[in-house]
Amino acid sequence: MSVQKIQIFDTTLRDGEQVPGCKLNVDEKLVIARQLELLGVDVIEAGFPISSPGDFEAVKAIAAQTKEITVCGLSRAVEQDILTAAEALTHAKRPRIHTGIGTSESHIAFKLRTTQEKVLERAVEAVKLAKRFVEDVEFYAEDAGRTNNTFLAQVCEAAIKAGATVLNIPDTTGYCLPEEYGAKIKYLADNVRGIERVTLSTHCHNDLGLATANSIAGAINGARQIECTINGVGERAGNTALEEVVMIMRQHPYLKLQTNINSKLLSETSAMVSHMMRMPVQPNKAIVGANAFSHSSGIHQDGVIKHRETYEIIDPRDVGVPDSSIVLTARSGRAALAFRLQKIGYNFDKSTLDKAYASFLEVADRAKEVHDKDLHVLVEKANLLV
Ligand code: KIV
Ligand code: ZN
Repeated sequence: MSVQKIQIFDTTLRDGEQVPGCKLNVDEKLVIARQLELLGVDVIEAGFPISSPGDFEAVKAIAAQTKEITVCGLSRAVEQDILTAAEALTHAKRPRIHTGIGTSESHIAFKLRTTQEKVLERAVEAVKLAKRFVEDVEFYAEDAGRTNNTFLAQVCEAAIKAGATVLNIPDTTGYCLPEEYGAKIKYLADNVRGIERVTLSTHCHNDLGLATANSIAGAINGARQIECTINGVGERAGNTALEEVVMIMRQHPYLKLQTNINSKLLSETSAMVSHMMRMPVQPNKAIVGANAFSHSSGIHQDGVIKHRETYEIIDPRDVGVPDSSIVLTARSGRAALAFRLQKIGYNFDKSTLDKAYASFLEVADRAKEVHDKDLHVLVEKANLLV
């Protein structure tokens, strides 16, 4: 199989921004949109224009500012939503309306209080209406993860006939297992008439910590767009983290899945979004967490000092982190201490290093981490230079 391009659809500014406390103003959204464009995403979902005048303005401003990539606005399968999204996208060079409706039994019975037939009708009407304004219409089958595959295929086929260009298969509640989600995408790819004319898209939530695995399973089984957010921000446990899916595809070339993302900008983009959304990144977060490239136990430090690849599968520079770090704690060994001492100018012979190590352990047992300034004090107090 030849290398397949996977489109990265970033929804940090829409699904990501739905998180309480993460709201962004128009200026902040514009700055993040610019950064996402630099990063190389293919589609920016800029907001949900009907939801508030501020969001309408943000989508409008991003649409006017963005030239090369697709700008998308969300709408429910509701006439006024679609008209408002179309208006917000008027000045976009590449506009996309993202419209859809719940398709699972639970959404149809409890949320929409309607029938499968009516859902089909509304899906078709929504796509047709959006199509009057833009060529590029993405249809989402909300809660597709818990939707029966036969009905899901029926809805997808109807949406394609109505003019949809992209079919989004959201695991809205983060319920699916990777095998199940991958099989769902494959089932649609194999059974929906007209599927070859459209792009299948994943949109996974992280309620069971499986959003990344599910998105990759989707791509392996035929999806050609992944919807995701920076740092995995999003409702509840969040969305698929952009940086994770991008690096998985990059680090596993045999998958033959490629994106346009400039991975060297991942770290700074993560920091920008975290700062503007006032949403800290957990230190052990894959790819962009503060500890993602730091080594603190003696065994690992010894290995990494001898050869980086013993404990690192990614070169930190590939994601914009200048270097890995050797953190000194009470679990560190002599190799790590010697390495850090050398970095600040002390080249000790074996017996001096032994003395330094004994003093170091005393300090390290009291402190959480031993910093360079502590090492200078330690060298002085233990008289290691005489
Ligand atoms: O999770 C979801 O189903 C969504 C849709 C609105 C696309 O965010
Ligand atoms: Zn979502």
